[in-house]
Amino acid sequence: YLPLIIMVTFAYLIGNISPATLIGRFYGIDIKKSGSGNAGTTNVLRVLGTKAAICTLLIDVFKGFIAVHIAQGRFNNLGAMLAFAAVVIGHIYPVVFKFKGGKGVATFLGAAMALNWPSMFAAALIAVVVAAASKKMSLGSITAAMIYPFLMLYYYPKALPIAIIMTFIILFTHRGNIKRLMKGEEKELSIGSKIKE
Ligand code: G3P
Repeated sequence: YLPLIIMVTFAYLIGNISPATLIGRFYGIDIKKSGSGNAGTTNVLRVLGTKAAICTLLIDVFKGFIAVHIAQGRFNNLGAMLAFAAVVIGHIYPVVFKFKGGKGVATFLGAAMALNWPSMFAAALIAVVVAAASKKMSLGSITAAMIYPFLMLYYYPKALPIAIIMTFIILFTHRGNIKRLMKGEEKELSIGSKIKE
């Protein structure tokens, strides 16, 4: 079991790398205290604008991808699913940033890409279309997370367990957004210079 434990720890630690936090520091702000307070692409877009958001997105997607890709090369399907969970949990609860991370969507997409790219692209497309139509990124993320298990059932059923777990994790990290959406209080996405909300 030692190689598996090392791989899961490695995936968790890769997940800890928070581009939103680090890019925020580079710009001289604390992303956890700005905008929605989330260390993720949407909030970086809201607070720091497009360039910083693209960098955040690419790094978060890449870390999810690489963690699962490495696990897939050395372990079986269970190993890949464990790496998937570990990298996303590492992103949401990073020990190196006092357990304050993001909501897991970009890292989840990267990990999903390594596992089965067609279902990832379908989920990402759903997220973008719903977010663009509603102007609320959170609604796009939540919708994609809820449809993801069905996509996996179709494209890659052997990893269905992790897809279902991910849906619950993403819904949990978006619990504040869900409450605001239900009350009609979730704000529309704005771009750049929103230091406080
Ligand atoms: O993936 C995060 C997004 O769905 C919501 O982010 O900052 O609006 O809570 P935020």
